[in-house]
Amino acid sequence: MGVLGHAQAARQHFNHMLANKPLMEKNKVTQQFTILPGAKTFQGKFTVPGDKSVSHRSIMFGAIAEGTTRVTGFLEGEDALATLQAFRDMGVSIEGPKNGEVTIHGVGMHGLKAPASALYMGNSGTSMRLLSGMLSAQKFDSVMTGDASLSKRPMERIAQPLRAMGAQIQTTGERGTPPVSMMGGQHLQGIHYDLPMASAQVKSGILLAGLWAKGETSITEPEPTRDHSERMLRAFGYDVKTEGNRISLQGGGKLIGTDIQVPSDISSAAFFMVGAAITEGSDITLEAVGINPTRTGVIEILKQMGADLTVENERIAGGEPIADIRIKGTRTLKGIHMPEDQVPLAIDEFPALFIAAACAEGQTILTGAAELRVKESDRIQVMADGLKTMGIDCTPTDDGIVIEGQGKAGDWSAIFTGGEIESHHDHRIAMSFSMAGLRTSGAIKIVGTETVATSFPTFTELTNQAGLTIQVSE
Ligand code: S3P
Repeated sequence: MGVLGHAQAARQHFNHMLANKPLMEKNKVTQQFTILPGAKTFQGKFTVPGDKSVSHRSIMFGAIAEGTTRVTGFLEGEDALATLQAFRDMGVSIEGPKNGEVTIHGVGMHGLKAPASALYMGNSGTSMRLLSGMLSAQKFDSVMTGDASLSKRPMERIAQPLRAMGAQIQTTGERGTPPVSMMGGQHLQGIHYDLPMASAQVKSGILLAGLWAKGETSITEPEPTRDHSERMLRAFGYDVKTEGNRISLQGGGKLIGTDIQVPSDISSAAFFMVGAAITEGSDITLEAVGINPTRTGVIEILKQMGADLTVENERIAGGEPIADIRIKGTRTLKGIHMPEDQVPLAIDEFPALFIAAACAEGQTILTGAAELRVKESDRIQVMADGLKTMGIDCTPTDDGIVIEGQGKAGDWSAIFTGGEIESHHDHRIAMSFSMAGLRTSGAIKIVGTETVATSFPTFTELTNQAGLTIQVSE
């Protein structure tokens, strides 16, 4: 079976190369969710899909390693699949994904091949920023493009430090935005870079370029950001040093193929955590969720808001800590001033947390989160617009938001009025407003939900099982 599986992957790979046609933006049908009021319960035990950040890195590092890498729990969502396709386009043989299993036949540090045409990164900022670092160090020229959302996102934040290392990289969009083009054959030099913003993508892109650079590449980060790159490079046998807020590595080493177990994505689990926290009598357990300390801001913030949340059965799987998270709807949340030190640790969870804040008693204030404005959408503005449509008083600020929570202790009646929400094709906006459906008096229609498939392809299936019916239409 193994040999046949490999043969099938090889056939797909060669067909694809012969067709000379890399993955392109599909003529996407815009999708919408409709949620009617009246959900009675929100309960059950669920395993949400694999972590997006870890899935991306497993493909990237497996591809440039020597030998074979076997990945389990891989997220079969469009973002991680865009990374997988990019490496197929660069000549790497990859089997799967099938039931979350992927086998990557690594080509080593100098084995990537020039892609036939531009690499299409879909909606994925992680793919584009991390690959900017890797591709700047290759022998061949390359270009990366993305969908409408990715094409608006800032790429100079990674291009600038790479240029300081000697890369020839250009952001050819109007305002330092994609497409990104790299000229091959440059000799990179290690640098020290003081990261001006807390960004794991920029940190990782520089570290990846540093693998091929001469001497040491080091970074200091203003606040701790997710450290999956550092952990996984070590799992592949590469020496990465972390001393306080300084991360460094020496160029010129090699990665050795290994087995990677991808934990469930805490960012996907967060929607169910918030859903349970705002619903009377709910009881949700999320199994085997990654609780890497650089990702657990959502747990800390929900606890500070008074949620009935327990972290059970903590264990280690594939070098990452995991646990079961149980959350029950037993008490009304309280509005808080969200702790700024938790912002980078909960950066993807704020749209969901804003829904929790709307259901809390009293005011919630978020500051120090300007990065939210440059995610898949401007998440401060888009959430504020949607909350206002649904009858919630809130004020967006440059680096955060003030939300007047409508909750009252012991009262579990509807908070949201319903209405039509524009998600701006941002998966996390769509999933967050879906959770508002648990406390709505009128129907909620969410437009542009097709991007939910980038990170959580089983979202509606699982919410329906838990008791929140989402109708999907195209
Ligand atoms: C990611 C880092 C974060 C996060 C993104 C995934 C990663 O972005 O928002 O969803 O995998 O490194 P920034 O590093 O830009 O904050």
